[in-house]
Amino acid sequence: MKLKNSYDYFYLLFNELIRVKIRTGRLEKEMTDEAAVYTSSLEFDRFIFDADIQCNYAHTSMLKAQGIIDGEIADKILEALDKLSDEGFDALEFDHSVEDVHMAVENYVTKLVGPEAGFMHTAKSRNDQVATDIRLLLRDRITEIQIGILEFIEGILELAKEHKETVMIGYTHLQHAQPVTLAHHLMAHAQALKRDYQRLDDTYKRVNLNPLGSAAMATTSFPIDRELTTQLLGFDDYLENSMDGVSSRDHIAETVFDLSALCTTLSKICEELVLWSTYEFGIVSMADEYSSTSSIMPQKKNPDVAEVARSKCAIVNGELVTILTILKAIPYTYNRDLQEITPHLWNACDVAYDTLKIVNHMLLTVTFNTERCLELAGANFATATDLADIMVRERKIPFRTAHKIVGRIVNEAVAEGVNPSEIDGVYVDNVAEELGFEKLGLDDELIHNALNPIENVKIRNVPGGPSPEMVQLAIDNMNIFLDNEFEKQGI
Ligand code: ARG
Repeated sequence: MKLKNSYDYFYLLFNELIRVKIRTGRLEKEMTDEAAVYTSSLEFDRFIFDADIQCNYAHTSMLKAQGIIDGEIADKILEALDKLSDEGFDALEFDHSVEDVHMAVENYVTKLVGPEAGFMHTAKSRNDQVATDIRLLLRDRITEIQIGILEFIEGILELAKEHKETVMIGYTHLQHAQPVTLAHHLMAHAQALKRDYQRLDDTYKRVNLNPLGSAAMATTSFPIDRELTTQLLGFDDYLENSMDGVSSRDHIAETVFDLSALCTTLSKICEELVLWSTYEFGIVSMADEYSSTSSIMPQKKNPDVAEVARSKCAIVNGELVTILTILKAIPYTYNRDLQEITPHLWNACDVAYDTLKIVNHMLLTVTFNTERCLELAGANFATATDLADIMVRERKIPFRTAHKIVGRIVNEAVAEGVNPSEIDGVYVDNVAEELGFEKLGLDDELIHNALNPIENVKIRNVPGGPSPEMVQLAIDNMNIFLDNEFEKQGI
């Protein structure tokens, strides 16, 4: 047979091997090859190999401590598990008895210890075992992604520090709205990433709970010590209901939602980079390392990495829907459907992590065209709101009246080709009178400052605002957050 893909590989494997040991009792006939391959989790069990050893180790240690199994046999089992841990996944043999990684591990131990290895499966089912394994691995994956987020925020802070005075235009409806700074814009992304981090932190609490001891679904009559396995495996607590223990997967759906939210943040960054790197915006130039060209149009520099990242995020959304859809129709307790959830979880983790890393690298290597940023910020009367604010502050007229006067000023100035920098007190008063209001007699300098994008940004000096002072405050606060979280993560 010529192997074309991993399906063929597993088909071959199953053709040759597996499924005797646990089928020799209740079942007389073997599964067909087709059914065995179709229902196998082996391809993805590789990921939970280390966790499975850890889980067996804790369970066996507990059985020994509780006197449920003989101490000497337990020690031999633990020694074999240690050896397997050193040798790695490839030391496993997928012979006739193997249906999944749990059985392969047991077989390995049996080979070294003899039939007494079978004691390690006392008071344990593959149902609570797989639930435990997934949680053990998932908490590492969450931590890895969280650290990636912290590192990304750290990079954004460095960039923001350099651009506290880089004035650029902010948009609503993708139309020029008000001037901000590049630092303020970057810090908006940093805030979103901070929440993405915190969401994972919150989910972690619900992931880090111990299902082991739930056994198949109704615990066991052996006097197991769940607190001990909880402690040995570093869980915060054990799950209090065995039926829930073996079948709950909402922590998986929740994690993947968190990853979807993270990817939404990342995709939005990509979307902006794609827009900003167009000739029309001209705000950024992507690094060559993150760009492609065309095979026919020699002038092209395309933001392919940002585009691919933007669309890969959809994969994570898809995984979330797949997981929720599997979960919604599962009666208590363990159903084999649950096995089909796990690969989608790992895929979501992989895609989110890889996307996080590449978007981080890509954003931190772009070149900003600060002149173009300023040019756009000064065009289109984006500073008009502050001219209205001045009227309210200086002349105590209602904001709606000021809004009307400024709206007319902009309307006439655009029609007459007058630039914002040319608007003065006389121009304002003419329009005010035209509309039937009294002259405002505003100071020319005040008007110029309000309409000048650089000064305009500086006067929005309230918490959360774009002024360099306030952005520095936001950077300082974010640094405190980073220090605390890096410390919690042991970095
Ligand atoms: N591969 C299975 C899973 O991922 C392991 C548990 C099997 N349990 C069972 N009762 N068949 O869910």
